[in-house]
Amino acid sequence: MLSLLAFLTTLSFSSFASTSPTLAKTPAFILAGDSTTAVQSTGGGGWGTGFLATLIDPSYGVNKGHNGATTVSFVDGGDWAAVKKLVSGATASYEVYVTIQFGHNDQKSEKNISISEFKTNLKALAQDVKDLGATPLILTSLTRRKFDGTELKDDLSDVVPAARTAAADSNVALIDLNAASRKYVQAIGSENADKYNLVSGDRTHLNAHGSDVFGRIVADLILAYNGNLSSWIEKNATLSGLIADGVYA
Ligand SMILES: *[C@@H]1O[C@H](CO)[C@@H](O)[C@H](O)[C@H]1NC(C)=O
Ligand SMILES: *[C@@H]1O[C@H](CO)[C@@H](O)[C@H](O)[C@H]1NC(C)=O
Ligand SMILES: *[C@@H]1O[C@H](CO)[C@@H](O)[C@H](O)[C@H]1NC(C)=O
Repeated sequence: MLSLLAFLTTLSFSSFASTSPTLAKTPAFILAGDSTTAVQSTGGGGWGTGFLATLIDPSYGVNKGHNGATTVSFVDGGDWAAVKKLVSGATASYEVYVTIQFGHNDQKSEKNISISEFKTNLKALAQDVKDLGATPLILTSLTRRKFDGTELKDDLSDVVPAARTAAADSNVALIDLNAASRKYVQAIGSENADKYNLVSGDRTHLNAHGSDVFGRIVADLILAYNGNLSSWIEKNATLSGLIADGVYA
């Protein structure tokens, strides 16, 4: 039994030795989402920039987060076609992951997107990624940082369970950013949470420092999902420790 295990270990190490002991190819990350993924700009700014900064060369990523996007507009406006083109161009040389995070705009009544449609749309996006030979990761929506007294508001409670269900239904990895970001923001409190605001009073979008902190949360969730990525995602034990302890970073 032991010698069989030793043999298998040798085998798996030798077959991947040219790149990494655990991944056949270098990973690449394409980020699909709304302004809470997008690069810092007027009216936008999410975790994407901070997450991509953790990648170790030659691993790379592209942030396709689009301010105001829903699961409908992202497809209709051509962003999804752009994501698919990036994926197709990368799969020969990279193990490609596509993060899919929507909900903040889908939930707005004027968008007229039902929860059932939201779920169906997420599943369709994930299936497209699989069809291209890449790995979809469905993320629950980054929390807003609005408090009711000392309690963090739970204003995404329609889209978050829907994303969890969409991932489970389609056998896609769920990265529960909403749960992790809520836990941290609730722990640090309203005053500290406001320090991540892109502009004063905007408790949805993140400034550059906030992107690093919440990007770290995403990086750690992705590492927990697949430890084989650890040669490609830089760790920061100090920052991860503060987040885990619920201490403002
Ligand atoms: C909302 O969506 C439903 C279902 O797609 C459609 O029948 C209805 O016309 C839409 N309403 C508006 C105001 O766009
Ligand atoms: C990690 O790598 C090993 C060896 O290649 C593989 O058997 C395993 O399925 C990988 N784990 C994940 C979560 O992909
Ligand atoms: C790690 O996190 C700490 C705390 O946020 C920060 O001061 C430091 O610059 C980070 N280190 C790197 C290499 O990003």
